Amino acid sequence: MSGGRAAVVAGIGAYTPPGLVTNDDLAQRLDTSDAWIRSRTGIAERYVVAPGTATSDLAVEAGLRALKSAGDEHVGAVVLATTTPDQPCPATAPQVAARLGLGQVPAFDVAAVCSGFLYGLATASGLLAAGVADSVLLIAADAFTTIVNPEDRTTAVIFADGAGAVVLRAGSAGEPGAVGPLVLGSDGELSHLIEVPAGGSRQRSSGPVTDPEDQYFRMLGRDTYRHAVERMTGASQQAAQLAGWSIGDVDRFAAHQANARILDSVSERLGVPAERQLTNIARVGNTGAASIPLLLSQAAADGRLTAGHRVLLTAFGGGLSWGATTLVWPDVQSV
Ligand code: UT7
Repeated sequence: MSGGRAAVVAGIGAYTPPGLVTNDDLAQRLDTSDAWIRSRTGIAERYVVAPGTATSDLAVEAGLRALKSAGDEHVGAVVLATTTPDQPCPATAPQVAARLGLGQVPAFDVAAVCSGFLYGLATASGLLAAGVADSVLLIAADAFTTIVNPEDRTTAVIFADGAGAVVLRAGSAGEPGAVGPLVLGSDGELSHLIEVPAGGSRQRSSGPVTDPEDQYFRMLGRDTYRHAVERMTGASQQAAQLAGWSIGDVDRFAAHQANARILDSVSERLGVPAERQLTNIARVGNTGAASIPLLLSQAAADGRLTAGHRVLLTAFGGGLSWGATTLVWPDVQSV
């Protein structure tokens, strides 16, 4: 953030729903196998919501934990990054704010698919810089399995559900936890690579849904893979450079958990040693916007991420959209 107040991480928490689904469970109803899923994606198991559970339910749990971690029950605004709002209208964030007992604070959703957490960091930074609030609860939550076609083996084995949240307070750029320079980008020419064709104004103004499969999430995996590697690598290099870091300065690399092969490829291109890469995809799958804060929260809880680590973050998703930033991990307890 230039000249103004920086957004500083003051608390972190995460939540996954209790429903555990293994690769073997999926292989019972889909033409796939544990060996294929592990070797092509790095995923072994994931958590999924129970019938009736919505994104707000995950968001509230993660939000509660982040507030507890920050030792603060009150924040001045709530930003929710999600691709799976409870309803098309209104936004889900106001209900989350109300359920967290935060009163009538500004609350709204950010839609940047799997890049949502990084777009949310930029949004929260803006709210703090503008003086709209002195602290912001940024939650990234997705019940991705609610939009994935359960019959589509190319997506059903990858996407999963979860939530992560951070409390950001206004501070100065030099202190631990301060969000560094943010690199964000998009390419709408490639929006068809990741989409839910139906359910929006384009389809609704045209008449009823003719192909029921259009109501589900769709991804052209191979093309998406290539762009994910290129964009996460490029954005990471830019963010590190803007922060004045060389890649050798990076203690922990926290990338959106899209696919273990993508992560290895990005790390290799950047020159980040394997032991500095944070991953949890084997246990949680690809949780959309929630991916990065869920990863940071779990890594902080199990000691892989500790105060003083210089962390490089990057994400990529539908839109297309991508982003990266840096921060020095603060002395916070993950809840
Ligand atoms: O989070 C937002 C961004 N998302 C991503 O970055 C994800 C990017 N893409 C990927 O992660 C990968 O492209 C996938 C995991 C989706 C697919 O892996 P891939 O190595 O690119 O496989 P592919 O699409 O090239 O398919 C290879 C083969 C195909 O069979 P043929 O045509 O070679 O006979 C697929 O039909 O694997 C087949 N296949 C499967 N086989 C068993 C596709 N999905 C499965 C499956 N089980 N679940």
